Amino acid sequence: MPHGVLTVAYIASAILFIFSLGGLSNQQSARRGNVYGILGMIIAVLATGGYVSGAFDGAADVTLSQEGYGVLAGAIGIGAIIGAVMAARVAMTSMPELVAILHSFVGLAAVLVGISSYLHAGIPVPEGEETIHEIEIFLDVFIGAITFTGSVIAFLKLRGSMSGNPLILPARHLLNLGMLVACVYLGYRFVGVPDHGGTVPLLIMTVVSGIIGIHLVMAIGGADMPVVVSMLNSYSGWAAAAAGFMLKNDLLIITGALVGSSGAILSYIMCAAMNRSFISVILGGFGTDGGGSSSGVTREYGEATEISVQDTVAALQDASNIVIVPGYGMAVAQAQHSLSEVVKILRGRNKNVRFAIHPVAGRLPGHMNVLLAEANVPYDIVLEMDELNDDLPETDVVLVIGANDIVNPDALEDPTSPIAGMPVLEVWKSGLVVVFKRSLGTGYAGVQNPLFFKDNTDMLFGDAKKNVDALLTELRQ
Ligand code: TAP
Repeated sequence: MPHGVLTVAYIASAILFIFSLGGLSNQQSARRGNVYGILGMIIAVLATGGYVSGAFDGAADVTLSQEGYGVLAGAIGIGAIIGAVMAARVAMTSMPELVAILHSFVGLAAVLVGISSYLHAGIPVPEGEETIHEIEIFLDVFIGAITFTGSVIAFLKLRGSMSGNPLILPARHLLNLGMLVACVYLGYRFVGVPDHGGTVPLLIMTVVSGIIGIHLVMAIGGADMPVVVSMLNSYSGWAAAAAGFMLKNDLLIITGALVGSSGAILSYIMCAAMNRSFISVILGGFGTDGGGSSSGVTREYGEATEISVQDTVAALQDASNIVIVPGYGMAVAQAQHSLSEVVKILRGRNKNVRFAIHPVAGRLPGHMNVLLAEANVPYDIVLEMDELNDDLPETDVVLVIGANDIVNPDALEDPTSPIAGMPVLEVWKSGLVVVFKRSLGTGYAGVQNPLFFKDNTDMLFGDAKKNVDALLTELRQ
């Protein structure tokens, strides 16, 4: 098999990865996007495996022994089984945790491959390029260690095994700067030392950058965790790209750059949706543990009014324009299937029913879109916040299903609120708002919501699935 086959296979994989990202940007094409990604990865693994096995006319700089090939196949097989079981078992609400821990593996792999390529250069380094190669190793290990420890902390915070409160150490920015300067100095001591003499500075830098990763993510509060996860996604991409340069593997460079840049773009989009600057997220210190305490504190907001299922149905019967705002509570209650049936009935009665999706509704980007697609809600009635906000004053009834922060008027009206400036769905401008939730408790950001106490808002207390089921039964009668 000629060496050119490897190049063609890598180009095909790279194109499939680009198609995959394109497909994932839209829920109608997301499944196809996933298939492209899987195909691209299968081609990449087979081509690389064939290359190192010497199948490409012995073109590889290093070839695996029979035994080495067995180890590679075993590792891929075990990894694939663990990955498939984990992905099949994970609940939608725990997806951010899974993503965080997977990023930590990318970081750890970058660290291990970087250190091992230094100690035993698998790829011959052309003369005159030794310094560049060492810088590639150093950067790969640096980014990899930050990604590894940062992702482990993000995983523990999202899982609730560690408090989500930001850790604010005195002079923490100075501390980060000091550690960064130390890494630059260690880099200076590492490069150009013959006979693996740079091992000690490399290992010290690995520890220091690991501490930077821990400290950076510890300082970030619960409310900013979604941005952190996508930021770590971006870091893991750059770590892979650095590994690609180090291993002279073009496909790894392309894939790493795709992951790195798409993660950075997603972080930017999420920051814009929360009205947070990227720098202030990185510098941390905002948000609570994100547990959404159900304290039921009413403060000075006054009394919230309750509504029954029957009265909600009566309001829906009278309405022509209905908007549904799903949030994290809909995901927890798994109310999307019953909700989809409710929507079918209402549309059958010639009502204009649409869903309004906030960019950070739920706990991961596109969370609500995935759930609604799973419940077969037609895509054309699922609209983004910006597409629907202007229509809310002409809307008769808004059903808020397990959402809280994303419909909080304080974000726009109270400059002292922790979520001040975050764009929200301005549901209070509609005729009637019915909020489906179990209590007056706070949401992810841990801030009280004055919407619940407004004159045109009624609370339908209880589990969202139970109440949507009751609504469905009532509508069917
Ligand atoms: P939240 O503000 O977290 O509010 C969800 C509400 O659902 C809670 O107040 C809770 O109230 C209610 N709830 C929970 N279980 C329920 C059930 N079984 N039945 C009915 N209601 C239930 O959610 P949101 O409005 O979707 O806003 C998302 C928040 O998460 C934002 O602050 C965002 O920044 C953050 N975040 C987003 C992401 C992404 S990328 N989407 C990732 C991480 C964090 P009760 O306890 O009273 O029922």
